Amino acid sequence: MGCSSSTADVKRGGYSNGKLPEPSAPPPPDPRLPLTARQKFSLEKSWKAVQRNMEEVGMNTLLRLFKEDPSIQDLFPSFKGQTEHQLRNDMGFENQAVMILNIFDEVVEQLNNLDAAISLLTKTGKKHSMIDPDMMMKFEKPFLETVKETLEDRYNEKIEAIYITFTKFVLDHVITGMKGT
Ligand code: HEM
Repeated sequence: MGCSSSTADVKRGGYSNGKLPEPSAPPPPDPRLPLTARQKFSLEKSWKAVQRNMEEVGMNTLLRLFKEDPSIQDLFPSFKGQTEHQLRNDMGFENQAVMILNIFDEVVEQLNNLDAAISLLTKTGKKHSMIDPDMMMKFEKPFLETVKETLEDRYNEKIEAIYITFTKFVLDHVITGMKGT
């Protein structure tokens, strides 16, 4: 009992010198997502606040986007001409908002598997061949504003830089899919 050379210790790599084993180093970051291991961790951690409010974040992003460019609202026949109040009470609008946020969510979940994340994003892009790639980039600003609002005092310059990189990663791959390259 309690002997430093027990079989269990040996199986765990052994630390008969009485020292705990070094925690394993995080895997080297995949250069396709230019975030350090620490930034990736901050993204995953802060994203939990977004996950708890997927409907709100999605709807507020879309409402900001439509306010900024009403012609985007018109691309959705069932949203065209609706007021903010009507949209907020429209299940179709909520579903659309959640569908978009689910893509971002899936990508955060797959940060250790960027092949899967990128494949999902290019597939999503292919479904947007009806819109102009420049229009897709308009998603960035309202999304970042809504993340800021959601994270409240947890949002700072460091987090902002992480979300800028992450959002650019998402939109760049969606646009690649739109262009079919
Ligand atoms: C300015 C930006 C965007 C515009 C104008 C736009 C436009 C559209 C339109 C018109 C549809 C079809 C809706 C329908 O069939 O009722 C759609 C579907 C969809 N959009 Fe977007 N979208 C934008 C950004 C995004 C982003 C950033 C994502 C995710 C990263 C996304 C994910 C989706 C998904 C998952 C669907 C459902 C596709 C399906 O039918 O399987 N969209 N979008």
